[in-house]
Amino acid sequence: MTVRVPAKVNLQLSVGPRRDDGYHDLVNVFHAVSLFDEVTAWDAPRQDTAGPGVTASGEAGSVDGSPDGSVSVAVEGESAARVPLDGGNLAVKAAVALAARAGRRPDVRLRIRKSIPVAGGMAGGSADAAAALVACDALWGLGSPREELMEIAAELGSDVPFALFGGTAVGTGRGEKLTRVPVAGRFHWVFALAEGGLSTAEVYGECDRLREATGEQVGWPSASDDLMAALAIGDAKALGAVLSNDLQPAALLLCRPLARTLAAGREHGALGALVSGSGPTCAFLAESEDHATTLATALEAAGVCRTAVTASGPVPGAEIV
Ligand code: C5P
Repeated sequence: MTVRVPAKVNLQLSVGPRRDDGYHDLVNVFHAVSLFDEVTAWDAPRQDTAGPGVTASGEAGSVDGSPDGSVSVAVEGESAARVPLDGGNLAVKAAVALAARAGRRPDVRLRIRKSIPVAGGMAGGSADAAAALVACDALWGLGSPREELMEIAAELGSDVPFALFGGTAVGTGRGEKLTRVPVAGRFHWVFALAEGGLSTAEVYGECDRLREATGEQVGWPSASDDLMAALAIGDAKALGAVLSNDLQPAALLLCRPLARTLAAGREHGALGALVSGSGPTCAFLAESEDHATTLATALEAAGVCRTAVTASGPVPGAEIV
């Protein structure tokens, strides 16, 4: 059972005050883009998953998913070596959580083919978790209602429900309560991938420290009317002008070269340039598909990123292929 799942970029990420549980209330406008990971799930009887799995890519591992079941996971592709292969892998957690809910053993073999950057601020780990939920649900013939998968997704991480949901949506709460946003047309993007990744928790922590140091008072965030209007009429120029990310100052402090990456994109005519989520991937809105290709080439030539990829959005959430 193979599921394709998109990356996300945040068009607006407004971070409210820190809550007692350590999370922040957000207004998070998610936009799914055509940069996909693929997760395949196979039935794996207990004896087949007892030892570490090994694949041709050599990126493999096996973990005990429950006292009487086991999940093995192999990862290939973009930065595969940096994906955890133990119980910390979100796709593994997803399989285990779904099996527990269904009252069965999570005996399954997972293979993740990555194109979404690891720890890149594009919710790659969350995407893999969402894909594993859909793949295992189908493989095990559970037919779980969408709301139930969304509930498990929210327990796995703040961005996992959106990877199921897809399209463009406003996330509130931790980002897990979703409302669909109407969008006309298609937007063209360039993503500049950085060397290494940033920890989401660290970036939120740095954002808190910065706010404390500057005495900035943050109010209750709300979705930008200008952003909603730009999306509703498919106006890329207007959208580029209102993209915003409250985590950007913190990400730029933790990863200083990103300021040059953003500047290079603006110099080459990006309609908007911002750090994607908690970074370090930078997102650039282009005028057209052709402009996105030219912009990606220019960013790579300027030596301000590891690699630059083009994508468009919105696209649907996790889907069986
Ligand atoms: O929910 P998830 O596990 O993806 O969140 C990773 C980390 O990001 C959390 O541990 C927390 O530090 C931070 N976070 C936050 N507020 C949110 C979402 C995430 O502080 N709304």
